[in-house]
Amino acid sequence: MSHQADHLFFTWTAQKQAKPFAVKEAKGVHLKLEDGSELIDFTSYIFNASIGHGHPAIGAALERVAKKPLVTHPSLINEDRERLASRLSAIAPKGLASGHRPLTKAFLSLGGADANESAIKMARLYTGRHKVVTRYRSYHGATLGTMALSGDYRRIPLDMHGASGVIRVPDPYPRGSGQTIDTVRLMEEAIEIEGPETVACVLLEGITGANGILIPSDDYWPRVRALCDRYGILLISDEVMSGFGRTGKWWAVDHWNVTPDILTMGKGMTGGYAPLGCVMVNDAIARHFDDNVLWCGLTSYAHPLCCAIANAVLDVFESEELIENTARQGMLLKEELLTFKKKYPMVADVRSLGLLAAIELQKSPTDNSMFVPYRAKGEAFAPAAKLQEAFNRAGVLAAVRYSNVLLAPPLTINEHELKLGLERVDQVLADLHR
Ligand SMILES: Cc1ncc(COP(=O)(O)O)c(C=O)c1O
Repeated sequence: MSHQADHLFFTWTAQKQAKPFAVKEAKGVHLKLEDGSELIDFTSYIFNASIGHGHPAIGAALERVAKKPLVTHPSLINEDRERLASRLSAIAPKGLASGHRPLTKAFLSLGGADANESAIKMARLYTGRHKVVTRYRSYHGATLGTMALSGDYRRIPLDMHGASGVIRVPDPYPRGSGQTIDTVRLMEEAIEIEGPETVACVLLEGITGANGILIPSDDYWPRVRALCDRYGILLISDEVMSGFGRTGKWWAVDHWNVTPDILTMGKGMTGGYAPLGCVMVNDAIARHFDDNVLWCGLTSYAHPLCCAIANAVLDVFESEELIENTARQGMLLKEELLTFKKKYPMVADVRSLGLLAAIELQKSPTDNSMFVPYRAKGEAFAPAAKLQEAFNRAGVLAAVRYSNVLLAPPLTINEHELKLGLERVDQVLADLHR
């Protein structure tokens, strides 16, 4: 255990079980650790390193911004703030095809969780309604409010106070049941029973991220959009993980040509070089707050330093054509994952869109129950812990979450690097089968 443990907490862990790592050098997708080992970053650290490590554009942005006034005030007129907000509006889902309103105005937050909190506040203020529909296999952040909205295991230890008005519905994910359930119909039923006039919004991840990269069928988002329209309920897409180019389009919902009323983002928008998040709202919601108080605020609102970094990241997206690269490398990733599924009977499923992927494992080649049960602890969790160590030893940073191995390399990755990382993943899967 490092000395850091004496005075600083590690997150999401009993402190004695923390697994800190020290990085000596980080360049592109390559990491050299202090202990001499080398890793290919196949998770973009924590799904945030969108433009890779040590990118020179960030150094240049920091140099430029260091010469300007940097102490922040929420009401400061600042060039980087203005430029970032207008660029985000330009890349937001357009909705012209579906007749929906474009997303025109940004509220810049400190990260993903408080972006979601602000989105819910805005939806409640705008609609005058209270309830929020979310899914069970979801994660929307670690603040008390967003944990109560999230459905996954992290909510449970703190659930005693919860948040009122959260309605959780099942995910479009057939595993285990052996049958496809019409989850949009179930969502509608829940809304009808709760009283649609009490429901402010439906909050869904663009694609379920940490809970296994669950990609809905093509009619899912359009049907949820139509359901929300029928009842005047706002649709919020949480694109903190699935957005900002990660899936080969700017936003996951772009794959289905759906425009939400509110979209939240974080993680990749600064490439992990600074903390920032954003809520984009449509012009009807924006206009509402022309005359009604927006009861949201933060000391470090739209921090000039973070906005400058986000602008530099957007410059890299343009100059290195990262959306196109993500779509192209994503095809290769998908092909390779499908070969794993054919080769290894323990691979129950593979799912990917762009450079966001999961390999789902089963218990054994002949037992299709889960590799590690959901929320397993101790001995039951041991296979996942061992597999995580095997990935580290093989030189690839992958995220083992119970039965899923999550893969999400930086969007700057090239074909050679992708193949190299996948060879290492292949090696680990081959060993697992032996
Ligand atoms: C889908 C989703 N929403 C929200 C968050 C919370 O973002 P942050 O950790 O920046 O508060 C995360 C973080 O993992 C996420 O994956």
